[in-house]
Amino acid sequence: MPMTLSRTAREPDLATFRAAFSQLPSGVSIVSVPYGDTVVGITVSSLSSLSADPPLLMFNVDRRARSHDLLVEAGCFGVNVLAEDQSSISDHCARRGSSKDIAHLCMDASTTSSPALADVAVHFDCTLEAVHPGGDHSIFVGRIHRIVLRDDIDPLVYCGGRYRRTERFPSSDAQPAVGQWANIGDFHDWTFW
Ligand SMILES: Cc1cc2nc3c(=O)[nH]c(=O)nc-3n(C[C@H](O)[C@H](O)[C@H](O)COP(=O)(O)O)c2cc1C
Repeated sequence: MPMTLSRTAREPDLATFRAAFSQLPSGVSIVSVPYGDTVVGITVSSLSSLSADPPLLMFNVDRRARSHDLLVEAGCFGVNVLAEDQSSISDHCARRGSSKDIAHLCMDASTTSSPALADVAVHFDCTLEAVHPGGDHSIFVGRIHRIVLRDDIDPLVYCGGRYRRTERFPSSDAQPAVGQWANIGDFHDWTFW
């Protein structure tokens, strides 16, 4: 039976709120913002697709973050989906108040109009389409102009406050070990015990 909140239900406390959402696995992306001669990186796990036509993405940034206004002013940015061996870049760009200059990690600026991190799983080249209020965060909407997709690179995952790697289910062409497969008929991609 679905649960309904009573009128007297209190808002969840911050610790419960954070613990609940930390259970949600996400990718880890760096929003790369041109800033003078440098590039500022912001770690976000809130990246999501928004629209296919026109191609839009969205992510949320804390309004108190120093990089928040910088992102609004820049008007264009890259979104770089980190590879599984790039957690140190995520840590670097999540340090509140630190310089977070990642220019040295970016590819030649002539290859994309927004700064692109090297060896990431995906790079989105974006201009800022809109900024919407979202409580203590702002919802940034980016229009995607170009996508560089490296399907040979596995993405970094964040869940339960830890970095993780993806683990694939065995594919249909994988050799099952003796005794691992039950009578699975057509469902061999799905059923693995
Ligand atoms: C894995 C991970 C994901 C994060 N995702 C977000 C996010 O989606 N939105 C956000 O505002 N901050 C997020 N943060 C925290 C920001 O990266 C950090 O607070 C930000 O860089 C603030 O720095 P500043 O105040 O110097 O700009 C995340 C941090 C980590 C480690």
